[in-house]
Amino acid sequence: MVKLKKKERDKIPATTREEARPRELDPDAMIQTFDLKKYYQITEGIIVKALDGVSLTVKKGEFISVMGPSGSGKTTLLNMIGALDTPTSGEVYINGINIAHMNDEERTYMRLNKIGFIFQFYNLVPVLTAFENVELPLVFADKPKEEREEKAHRFLDLVGLGDRKDFLPSELSGGEQQRVAVARALVNEPAILVADEPTGELDTVTGMQVVRLIQELNEKLKQTTIMVTHDPDIGAMAKKTLRMRDGKLFDSVLN
Ligand SMILES: Nc1ncnc2c1ncn2[C@@H]1O[C@H](COP(=O)(O)OP(=O)(O)OP(=O)(O)O)[C@@H](O)[C@H]1O
Ligand SMILES: [Mg+2]
Repeated sequence: MVKLKKKERDKIPATTREEARPRELDPDAMIQTFDLKKYYQITEGIIVKALDGVSLTVKKGEFISVMGPSGSGKTTLLNMIGALDTPTSGEVYINGINIAHMNDEERTYMRLNKIGFIFQFYNLVPVLTAFENVELPLVFADKPKEEREEKAHRFLDLVGLGDRKDFLPSELSGGEQQRVAVARALVNEPAILVADEPTGELDTVTGMQVVRLIQELNEKLKQTTIMVTHDPDIGAMAKKTLRMRDGKLFDSVLN
């Protein structure tokens, strides 16, 4: 946390559409951020710099992991890339489109059609079966019944749970629930898969299996994948690892 004087406080950038200037974009990039900042004003004069100027490029089809201590801004970064939240300033390009200053409706469209999410606690709907959970994004995206059913079946098969389709989440193991969540995240065939500590609730072996699945699907389906983890072995399963500290990227290593 940082205490600011009034003069410094006035320097906090405002979120305006006018900030979105055309950029020289990398044609091979799926995700590009430029000087991305997210500041939270806690009380008068106290702000938290959750993201403090992150510029990164993730190529199409690449699988990268993001590591760093608690509070270093990993989830905040994923939320910006996943169109779950808007930055204080800076830009986020997804496949050449600046999403940083989109309105709610536009961001909802991005989330439904372009981005798949996997969370630490699976976030499955408890009263729906595995099949219905996987089908849900297609319902929200208004897809016809025939397409929904074909895809839900196909993606449950892809994660090896074709024989568990009528099970409720409470009838599945943690690893199986997370595999359902992987199928649900990918069923819309998103350009990007965003995973925030997908193995946080799983034992080491099961966690490895889930990430191996994510890795295999990345090779097969070519969705660009960005995964936050605290586990170095899990992080090393990605092609590249970015390290964050105090809202900044400070290192990038090839695995
Ligand atoms: N809505 C909010 N209001 C105020 N501060 C916030 C808010 N969201 C996040 N922060 C702060 O921003 C910083 C970064 O948070 P973030 O959740 O991105 O960290 P993280 O790297 O994902 O940590 P962890 O590994 O514990 O999940 C933290 O100091 C956090 O307290
Ligand atoms: Mg987090």
